[in-house]
Amino acid sequence: MPKHIQDLIQTRLTRRSVLSGASATALLGPTRLSAAPISDAFEEVKSGMDGHVHWPATTHECDLVIGWGDPIHKDGPEWEKGQTTAEAQAVQFGDSCDFIAYSPLPKGSGACDHGLLTVNHEFTRAATMFVGHDDPKDPARVAAELAGHGMSVVAVKRTESGWAPDLSNPLNRRITMSTPFEVVGPARGHARMKTPQDPDGAVVLGTLANCAGGFTPWGTVLSGEENIHVHWTGPGAPDHPEAASRAAMKIGRRQVWHFSVIDDRFDLGVAPMEPNRFGWVVEVDPYDPDARPKKLTSLGRFFHEGAEVVVDPSGHVVVYMGDDTADEHLYRFVSTNKVGDDDALNRELLADGTLYVAHFDAGGLTWLPLTHEGKLAEEFDSLADILIDTRLAAKVVGATPMDRPERVAVHPKTGNVYVMLTKNPARKVAEGPNARTENIWGQILEILPGDGGHVAARMDWSVLLEGGPPSVAKVAPPHPSTTANGHFACPDNCAFDQEGRLWVTTDGNHTATAVGEGGGVADGLYIVDTDGPHRGRSRLFFRACVGAELTGPCFTPDNSTLFLAVQHPGRTEGGQEGTSWPAAPGTDVPPRSSVVALTRKGGGALL
Ligand code: FEO
Ligand code: CA
Ligand code: CA
Repeated sequence: MPKHIQDLIQTRLTRRSVLSGASATALLGPTRLSAAPISDAFEEVKSGMDGHVHWPATTHECDLVIGWGDPIHKDGPEWEKGQTTAEAQAVQFGDSCDFIAYSPLPKGSGACDHGLLTVNHEFTRAATMFVGHDDPKDPARVAAELAGHGMSVVAVKRTESGWAPDLSNPLNRRITMSTPFEVVGPARGHARMKTPQDPDGAVVLGTLANCAGGFTPWGTVLSGEENIHVHWTGPGAPDHPEAASRAAMKIGRRQVWHFSVIDDRFDLGVAPMEPNRFGWVVEVDPYDPDARPKKLTSLGRFFHEGAEVVVDPSGHVVVYMGDDTADEHLYRFVSTNKVGDDDALNRELLADGTLYVAHFDAGGLTWLPLTHEGKLAEEFDSLADILIDTRLAAKVVGATPMDRPERVAVHPKTGNVYVMLTKNPARKVAEGPNARTENIWGQILEILPGDGGHVAARMDWSVLLEGGPPSVAKVAPPHPSTTANGHFACPDNCAFDQEGRLWVTTDGNHTATAVGEGGGVADGLYIVDTDGPHRGRSRLFFRACVGAELTGPCFTPDNSTLFLAVQHPGRTEGGQEGTSWPAAPGTDVPPRSSVVALTRKGGGALL
């Protein structure tokens, strides 16, 4: 640890305040910063915690769009309390909705009242899924759990009465742990990707633990495979050649699901390489059910939160990605080739490029390439090995351990990059933008690409805002006009609307705020000013019900609708009160993860 880390941070922050305006302006020309507060056009929601969700109800509507177990096809099986079967779940909306992508229908139309939602289903919850299936190794239960993971593509329409699914659309489909994925990029066909079921190492069945994601300019959806370590039956032998790799990814350290009961590829003794086929970013074309989804090995293997895609002014496609684990890292992929007019060629861009990992110092951020050269060539046999073991490679080159990097978003007007760092309670050493030890609050990191654009080797950085009340801030306290309702902790997901407002959801408000303010509050969706006189102010726009986190904020192209996922409502931790949300309070059904749509009463843009 530098002897005077605070001095270094302070020096760097001062430098940033001089450079940031010039850097942002140089990147994309004149920058239209807001002269007036941009997040005042609604009545702020009060923080607190109960069994309901809350939004500015005098000005906005909130529609329940679709939830776990709802049919995605006309005449499909309805959800039945405690009776989830694999057959029904495979044609119903999956569990624990996370990332949401909105794709206008028809393709290319820009329609804001008709589109496809592509939604991640991060995990299944046995407590709400089954009644009377207490054995986690019951094969029928395991089959239903396998079908509950993955993704959904479902058409939605807005009418006078609000948003609802269009169950007759032929594009509606589920992606489950049975769906084939084509492996693309350097790890395709590598010995460590080969299994008894797939001796070519080229096709993987399923996608797992899909958390956040991203959009590509060619209309596909990216999805990050995150916590892929709790599904394996082992333990693998400590002297197995994969032991170090597995340890880095926590494979086999803990088991929650027992997939190996019905599919022995989840048995480390039978299929020792199967874990290497998860932990990637996957790409799905919502418009084409016949196009085989891909696993993009160029983007590295770790606990992928999301994948924020931006086309650099040079034409290269850049993807910013967080590895959501304490002391893991922030990554950037740069495509070898440039975007052109041919979409078929563009679709190959993410298969070939260079992955970089971030190293922060007081003066800036350096992107370190993870290529098969130098020290990495000494430690790894091939580029494929580097990508399969991205975490190990990152440490060889000296990446900065971060406070759990989650979703990343690029400002649509300034090009600046915002990274949600959710928390790191075990942090002992302050380093770079991770300025607080024992950090239970999290913070939002701002990266300024500057003149070199998103492909630059070196960038400037700052901390935009630290979570928690002003009393616990160290380098970036909330703007003084922030109300107590606007104080949040543990930023997780985020998205910019087209006006350049940063919308941030939290995962952990309850625990963190209980420490600092005498009582925990529910997770929320906050609008954060990134520029202008109220830079660093956050205002609460939507409040989750007890036990839920909010995920997947996603806007229609005209800002008229915000889709939002309420994930794991009622997950009881710390003696919280229960909820039946979205069913009425007291209803004798379990709460269900669901997607809602927020619109302004009378129409028009949300704010
Ligand atoms: Fe699945 Fe990092 O949240
Ligand atoms: Ca997340
Ligand atoms: Ca989360």
